[in-house]
Amino acid sequence: MFKTIKYSDQYLAKTLFKRTLLFILFLVTICFGFWYLNIFQALMQGQYGWWYLSPIVLSILLTGLFGWGLYWLYKRYPVNHDNKLAHYFTAIELRQLISLLVISKGYFETASYENGTFVKYFPKIRIKFLFKTGQVLLEEPVDGQKYMQQFSKGEFDTAVEIALLADKQTTEFAKNKMTSTFAFEPIKFRRKLLELEARKGVLQVAKGIDWKFDKFYNALIAGNVGTGKSYTMFSIIGQLLTLTKYVDILDPKNSDLASLKHLPELEGHVFSDVNDITKCVADYYDKMMKRAEIMERKKSKGVIGSYFDFNFAPSFLIFDEFGAFTEMGDSLPYGSDERTNFDLAMSKMSQIAMLGRELGFYILIGMQRPGTDSLPTSIRNQLNLRINMGVPTPEVKRMMFPDTQKEFHPLSNDLKGWGFIQSGNEEVRSFFAPEIPKDFNLHDYMREQISKREVG
Ligand SMILES: Nc1ncnc2c1ncn2[C@@H]1O[C@H](COP(=O)(O)OP(=O)(O)OP(=O)(O)O)[C@@H](O)[C@H]1O
Ligand SMILES: [Mg+2]
Repeated sequence: MFKTIKYSDQYLAKTLFKRTLLFILFLVTICFGFWYLNIFQALMQGQYGWWYLSPIVLSILLTGLFGWGLYWLYKRYPVNHDNKLAHYFTAIELRQLISLLVISKGYFETASYENGTFVKYFPKIRIKFLFKTGQVLLEEPVDGQKYMQQFSKGEFDTAVEIALLADKQTTEFAKNKMTSTFAFEPIKFRRKLLELEARKGVLQVAKGIDWKFDKFYNALIAGNVGTGKSYTMFSIIGQLLTLTKYVDILDPKNSDLASLKHLPELEGHVFSDVNDITKCVADYYDKMMKRAEIMERKKSKGVIGSYFDFNFAPSFLIFDEFGAFTEMGDSLPYGSDERTNFDLAMSKMSQIAMLGRELGFYILIGMQRPGTDSLPTSIRNQLNLRINMGVPTPEVKRMMFPDTQKEFHPLSNDLKGWGFIQSGNEEVRSFFAPEIPKDFNLHDYMREQISKREVG
């Protein structure tokens, strides 16, 4: 149900609070009815005593105590609860916030009379909460009034995003109004690792956020130490392995991902030594060029289409800690074979990033800081799905999401595995990476995923 936002909603919490306290005072007074009656009778008989004041004092004390409890509930309860009461408090807080936003932005008109001022125009904004999915719908006026453009151009929505710590998902225009949908509790969109289901060309990241690799071909996952890059990659690799056996995993830091080389099913697909990595990149490149040749031959006969039209399987190069790789490579002595191979691998990476998408050869790069010193612009520009785990620094924000106006805030203080994601030129969204269970075993999980492919 939509609720209209009113000018007076700026005091909504206070007003409701005062009303509730008055009601409580009233209730307490009624409960003390007999007591008051006794006191009244005593007074009539000419008896006086200080203690006659005690029901009044007690009423005030009880009401105060209740008020304090209510205030505490309002501030604290919705943060870690998900039930009707928590939703009720959240709705009050958000309605008040929207009203305050309209007022602070000055999107309303007042007129003065002898007896005072009154609100002449207040934009017709209606709000609806979908607590199940953690979304808010805002209906805003596009009605020819003075502030119409501030709404239609999305200025107000940007303010709402910042104030509510929410992400705008969509805006739909209808006659005289527009409706914007915001996700205000990104954790509600979190998926669970064991429930992820990859489909042809689509990997799941969060509810409503997919990696459609046929469309947003290559991916970049950046983020500070320990923000959840590798864990996010687990969930992507797991899904990929149900789709294709052509998944190569590179991890020059020899951390969790590299341990997959001990899995017999992935033999020959996981590398952590710099020389092995450069060789793997070269092989990946050669396979890509071979496919290009075959497709070229078919196309010369007039057949058109992308790699999947020719029934080729997609291939993926998962490269974690790419920054460490470039650093290691840069320290190799000039002129050495290793250095030459490294330089070749880097230029092949650029080629794969550029040509691979048509041919179904994708890359996913994970690294801490995607600066040009460790990630050449020629590669970065081809990484079309961008994920930053944790809050990016202003510098990283410019590299990852150069066009966004969005302000980034932490999504959680105690949970890890959250960040911000952008597919192509779509809006940047907050998201929680799939939840990895506590008793998770990397090898068992990957083995199970692989078996799904062989069955399917
Ligand atoms: N999706 C998730 N589900 C559950 N826990 C997570 C998730 N993501 C991260 N964590 C927690 O955060 C820790 C760090 O995650 P991860 O190793 O993926 O970070 P990283 O960004 O790869 O760090 P580094 O830069 O050191 O490689 C994990 O050990 C885990 O406890
Ligand atoms: Mg890592």
